[in-house]
Amino acid sequence: MTQGSPHPEFQPLLDAALDAARNSYSPYSGFKVGSALRLTNAAIVTGTNVESVSYGLTICAERAALVRAIAEFGPEIRIEAIAVANLNQAPSPPCGACRQMLAEFAAPHAQVVFFSEHEVRSMPFADLLPFAFNTKLG
Ligand code: THU
Repeated sequence: MTQGSPHPEFQPLLDAALDAARNSYSPYSGFKVGSALRLTNAAIVTGTNVESVSYGLTICAERAALVRAIAEFGPEIRIEAIAVANLNQAPSPPCGACRQMLAEFAAPHAQVVFFSEHEVRSMPFADLLPFAFNTKLG
């Protein structure tokens, strides 16, 4: 798995993810996450985690951004970069459920960048979920 600092061109995406994290509704975990997707049409779409008093209904920041992107631009979207910010101590990559859903819309070259205040990590999205579920695997 390759890891490292992202290219400076990612900065607007990281800023958007951080802004979204500040809007997190996470009174139960206190874990504030923001995500920003850059689509191949150059649009940036954000999401944040929204928790529920019925805990299992919580939606992650990444999937919140994904459903928003599809609502705005339709099902043909392709994601070329995924940023995940959190306001906690350590960077957190997308969870397994989010990886699976993002995989269906990720461009082959998509990059993921996840970061917190003092640390940033970057890698190809394909490295995060190399063998996604697909009914066409045969
Ligand atoms: N969370 C995300 O927003 N993204 C992830 O990929 C994993 C977890 C949220 C869900 C919950 O509100 C909080 O982080 C703690 O799990």
